[in-house]
Amino acid sequence: MKIPTLAEAYRLLDEAHERNPGPWRAHSINVGRAAQYIAQACPTLALDADACLILGLLHDIGRREGITGMRHTYDGYQFLIAQGYDDAARICLTHSFPDRNLNAIFGKWDCAPDELAFLQGYITQCVYTDYDRLLQLCDAIAMDIGFVLMEKRLVDVILRYGGTTEQTLAKMRTYFALQSYFAQHIGASIYTVLPGVIENTFA
Ligand SMILES: [Fe+2]
Repeated sequence: MKIPTLAEAYRLLDEAHERNPGPWRAHSINVGRAAQYIAQACPTLALDADACLILGLLHDIGRREGITGMRHTYDGYQFLIAQGYDDAARICLTHSFPDRNLNAIFGKWDCAPDELAFLQGYITQCVYTDYDRLLQLCDAIAMDIGFVLMEKRLVDVILRYGGTTEQTLAKMRTYFALQSYFAQHIGASIYTVLPGVIENTFA
């Protein structure tokens, strides 16, 4: 895979966080840790668990460009492509569109029309892998405080970004389908392999 080493991923994350400090750094680490735990618990999928950690660390790296809306996906992709980390760049885009609908987003679009057209084309032609699916799921169960019940994370996002539409409800159903997919491969609830969910959810 075209991804950085773990040490380089942390260096990129820390550098980005210095440019734009916020809870997104801790969230990113928890997305990576969740992906690593779930990958280890799904031997039939043969995922590289260490790579999953790195992909999680970098999935929101577009936040390095400042306080932005959905363009953090585009910025992260361009940044990591320029570094030659194509597989990590891909996750910057795919993690936000589990149902491939660029209109079903939490937050606002703040890309130029040509950038949005690029994203639409990319997501339309992209064949999602289990890495894409796992990072989509983990983005929806990891907060800065740790792993939480998906319902808590989704309600938190909805409240912060101002409500739902029919399209965001469809997106939420996709998240629950992802949860079922990985639970089937684990042979148990995804939460059985994520430490601290009860404490974090009910804190
Ligand atoms: Fe995220």
